[in-house]
Amino acid sequence: MKIIKVQNNEEAGLKAAEIFKKEIKNNPKCVLGLATGSTPKTTYKHLIKFHKHNDLDFSDVKTFNLDEYYPIKKENIQSYHYFMHIKLFDHINVKPENVNIIDGECDDYQKSCDDFEKMIEENPIDIQLLGIGSNGHIAFNEPNTPFTQKTHLVQLTESTINDNARFFDHHEEIPLHALTMGLATIMKAKKIVLIATGKNKANAVKHMIQGDKTPLCPASILQDHSDCTIIVDEEAAELIEE
Ligand code: F6R
Repeated sequence: MKIIKVQNNEEAGLKAAEIFKKEIKNNPKCVLGLATGSTPKTTYKHLIKFHKHNDLDFSDVKTFNLDEYYPIKKENIQSYHYFMHIKLFDHINVKPENVNIIDGECDDYQKSCDDFEKMIEENPIDIQLLGIGSNGHIAFNEPNTPFTQKTHLVQLTESTINDNARFFDHHEEIPLHALTMGLATIMKAKKIVLIATGKNKANAVKHMIQGDKTPLCPASILQDHSDCTIIVDEEAAELIEE
């Protein structure tokens, strides 16, 4: 794992956006794996800036998102579909047919998961952006998810539901399930960039980098990835031993 230490989320976002820019410049037809949540907002802000300054063309890029709540309508402002359009896709020239977000409205979730996994097999992800949950989850792979898991339905844990409560007006609106790339799906990405910022990520970061490799901390599987960069701010890096 390559560790890049930065001061705060703003700087982390710029670093990650620069890595993504380099990837897209090297291969304009590359396949991006994208994340939602608070962490990647600054990354998307910088990617939009690069695009607006005529310096980054997304016209041949394909994207796959890590996850989506289930069930949820695309137009629900809490859906990850909505988030991605507002925070990134509406501001760049990615083609709608090149955007892949798992369908949170489907009846047959197993079919959606299998189709999504197959699409990724056919379009291998060149670079995957990740955040990390305070319990060590990546995408919605909660603690105890087998490392071999592909795209699947998950029941969200109490810890994740509470972490996500800040995005919802009423607690009962928070979805209890999600569809997510599995850990095996994520590990197939050729390159991974994980951003961790803020004090509440410090324990998870310590375990991911220096703890045992165990499904108790799903992010610890990244220790086995051959090209994984962790961008970490001062607060999230607090418990890392030098
Ligand atoms: C989002 C995702 C999640 C988040 C994680 C951190 O697509 O897959 O694993 O990356 O929950 O969320 P934030 O960034 O809101 O702290």
